[in-house]
Amino acid sequence: MNDEAIRVGVFVCNCGSNIAGVVNVPEVTEYAGTLPDVALADEGRWSCSSDYIEKMKELIHEHALNRVVIASCTPRTHEPLFKRAVREAGLNPYLLEFVSIREQVSWVHMNQPEIATQKAKDLIKMGVAKARLLEEGEEIRLPVHTECLVLGGGMAGMTTALHVADQGFHVIIVEREARLGGLLNRISGIRTDQRPYDPQELVKAKADAVDAHPCISVYTHTQLQAVEGYIGNFKVTLLANGDEQTVNVSTVIVATGMRERAPIGIYEEIDDPRVITQLALEERLLQQDLGEVQDVVFINCVGSRNASRGCCNIGCGIAVKNALAVKTLNPEATVTVLHRDLSLVKEEKKDLKAAMDQEIRFLRFSEDRYPVITRADGGLEVSTRDIILDRDFEIHPDLIVLTTGFEGDKSVEQTKGLLKLSANQDGFFQEAHVKLGPLDFASDGIHLCGCARSPKSLRETLDEATGAAMRASIPMKKGYVEAEGIVADIDLTDCKRCGLCAKMCPYNAIELDDEKAPQVIKALCKGCGLCAADCPTESITIVHYSDPQIFAQIEAALEENPEQKIVAFVCHWCALGGVDMAGVSRLQYPANARLIRVMCSARVSIKMIQHAFELGAAGVLVAGCEFPTCHYIEGNYAAEKRLKRTRKRLAKAGYDPDRLWNVWCSAADGPKFARTMRDMVKNLELDRESF
Ligand code: FES
Repeated sequence: MNDEAIRVGVFVCNCGSNIAGVVNVPEVTEYAGTLPDVALADEGRWSCSSDYIEKMKELIHEHALNRVVIASCTPRTHEPLFKRAVREAGLNPYLLEFVSIREQVSWVHMNQPEIATQKAKDLIKMGVAKARLLEEGEEIRLPVHTECLVLGGGMAGMTTALHVADQGFHVIIVEREARLGGLLNRISGIRTDQRPYDPQELVKAKADAVDAHPCISVYTHTQLQAVEGYIGNFKVTLLANGDEQTVNVSTVIVATGMRERAPIGIYEEIDDPRVITQLALEERLLQQDLGEVQDVVFINCVGSRNASRGCCNIGCGIAVKNALAVKTLNPEATVTVLHRDLSLVKEEKKDLKAAMDQEIRFLRFSEDRYPVITRADGGLEVSTRDIILDRDFEIHPDLIVLTTGFEGDKSVEQTKGLLKLSANQDGFFQEAHVKLGPLDFASDGIHLCGCARSPKSLRETLDEATGAAMRASIPMKKGYVEAEGIVADIDLTDCKRCGLCAKMCPYNAIELDDEKAPQVIKALCKGCGLCAADCPTESITIVHYSDPQIFAQIEAALEENPEQKIVAFVCHWCALGGVDMAGVSRLQYPANARLIRVMCSARVSIKMIQHAFELGAAGVLVAGCEFPTCHYIEGNYAAEKRLKRTRKRLAKAGYDPDRLWNVWCSAADGPKFARTMRDMVKNLELDRESF
């Protein structure tokens, strides 16, 4: 292929009046035919129709095309279709380049047909410039077998294990405690109409089902010691009573649960056996023994809902349940719940009504005036002000119960390190993407569920456990995973073995060999380009988004009238989604920008931006996903940091750093993108009409 003459085919879609109503498609097609190495330029009426796709495949054969440029609608919707067509025509699908002249041109410059036509020509020129440098890529297929490791034997772990095992896959549950059940082993229940179950019965039934399941092996008193490998090929060392054992698994589900937090803040220093936490109360309730307790005060939101922590999610429900349980155990007791307000779900609201019916008192205090606990004459006193009644109360309880919130299990630090996961300040694991991958980690084949992710009710835990089981089962059922061929490729010739790429890769897809030479694990690489953009020796390239390809696009964009043009690097996900949304909404904005698609804003290197300015660009825009939702975990954060460095570098080189802009938007943020375009053109004082 390398010695073969480049023959590019450009297929320009008129999309009926969608494109042809604004852009002069015959003129654009004729222009495309004049570009270097273009062997054929053809106008298609509806390029995505099956008739035209068939015609396109014939033309690829007939004209011996070995690169294809499609100029039509957005790649976000139509790229897979054309990739398939190109593959069916016998070409490697990575030899296709996509140019959007509908969402980026005809729909957003509807009143400027000439300028729109010129922009379409430029975008196609940029597409051809890149296409001439395209190289074949390969999709990577990895075998995935049928063993799944579940970390944690609580309700989430047992439930997820049963769902996986019910499909015939072998599951290993690793539990560091002596028995299955987790935190729920320590939780009491009250039987009411809305709560017809007892947690202990639930745990027992679930544990019995696990024990009886032929596809589940349970390792109690066991912990994770070491992990190597990746999806389909994890080698996990377990440690039990000083003995190590290695198991090979294909997928992992983290269900390590949570633990109650000790009181922090104003009650932290109180050391009195009559001031306890909800979990300590649970233990007494389980024993059905409250002793002589007659007057109980609950205080909610201890250490939660403040500047450093949000709501603990389930504390209010627990407080109401336990207040009711105290009253049930001792109907003569006086019970008061002090709260900031009650955040309850459906069943819990029924508990609240039952609690009020039993004369449990609820007083609401304000966030800046927590109840004060004092000890005098051997007794306890709680003073508080109810903000609804606007009245002070002094209560003399013999037991105070603090609702303190939760934190991740104590194994989190170790698990996080071994599996290379992320967790927040409270030790809860962080999912790959809150909307797109809530039960996945960034690394393929590792999933999470239940309270390991955040405190949640039993019902939510069970739902998540089912979901995580399904997520882990998909590749095991298919027998393989396929990774896109857009991956990093390292040339070791100039590599200084600094290890920066391995350190920065958000997917741990680069490992250093014994000589500290970086190696890409292609199955793990997602092609975000962060490593390539920051490599000090420029030894890394990204297949399909290489430096020469992107530089060729920049140069093509700025060949004419660079002083009126903005080079806009746009991430494929949210930012391009925003661009497309502006198009779909027919938001009109100035036509000065020439967009270059990258997978993530992290791919845009300082050199690329500087090159655009060297060629006379009026401005450069880097557009990525809004925080914190980069599709490559933290790519936008890395891009933002690099932009700061770029501005300094530009200033040193004599360019005005204010001509470098950035925008972080969601895929629905069409108005934001359009506004940015207008603002940039206005600020940079560009000509909107005559270039
Ligand atoms: Fe959009 Fe990373 S994917 S900024």
